[in-house]
Amino acid sequence: MNIPSSLADKIKSARNVFVFTGAGVSKESGLSTFRGDDDSIWNKYDPEINATPEGFYSNPALVWNFCRDINLFTHAKPNPGHLALAQMESYYDTFTIVTQNVDCLHEQAGSTDVVKIHGTCDLIRCTKCGHRAPASNFDFTHEFTPDNLPKCEKCGALYRPDIVWFGEYLPEEAINRASAALQRCDLMYVIGTSGEVSGGYGFAQHAAAAGATVVEINPKRSSLTYFADYHLAGPSGEILPLLLDILKNS
Ligand code: OAD
Ligand code: ZN
Repeated sequence: MNIPSSLADKIKSARNVFVFTGAGVSKESGLSTFRGDDDSIWNKYDPEINATPEGFYSNPALVWNFCRDINLFTHAKPNPGHLALAQMESYYDTFTIVTQNVDCLHEQAGSTDVVKIHGTCDLIRCTKCGHRAPASNFDFTHEFTPDNLPKCEKCGALYRPDIVWFGEYLPEEAINRASAALQRCDLMYVIGTSGEVSGGYGFAQHAAAAGATVVEINPKRSSLTYFADYHLAGPSGEILPLLLDILKNS
């Protein structure tokens, strides 16, 4: 792929970068997207049952089995896209990744300023007292039934995944950090997200209106493409290393 020279100039001259990522950035690590591909998760599972508080409380075993089946707790590895983003950081004053992904692949790749607006897969949280425990303390490979659900080591109530479900608020601290990064950005990357939930529309709209250069990386068009100055159509694991090379060679 040829990167337009006008975009290369913007990439080199920007100082504060806001990166908004979704499931697509982890696709080349073997994780499924939620929408957009034939094998996407919401083509196979009902989000009302598997990703809402109501669904969880009516059948927690089913939701834990769903989490296992979509590999929420398995150890995928960062792909060249995550690794390129981590290396880009040193070329800018600030480089904030706001991710909808609950996997820990940006952190594992070495990115240091990662804001997780949908929670995280490395913890589970008590539904009663809020105590958090490392997910690695538990075995998520077996079949869950009402008799073997993970229970809080402090109070005995049910644990739940420490992620944000449909109908729940986004974590306030994460949103505050995302807003601060949004205000200062002069370059925004929108990577591997359909943009259908969680403020993605507002983030892209704000950055575009404030004059930041908006660059989308996605093999397909999304609901955020409208705001993009550049749409780089392809997998992020291939395109991000090319963008890193622009910085390395400058
Ligand atoms: P989606 O699954 O909605 O969108 C994934 C996007 O990644 C699609 O636009 C694909 O075209 C694109 N894509 C696929 N392969 C790619 C690749 N190799 N490189 C780059 N892009 C690629 O994922 P999100 O936008 O992250 O929330 O979904 C947002 C939220 O909806 C998720 O966090 C989850 C889901 O329901 C909850 O569970 C609450
Ligand atoms: Zn508890």
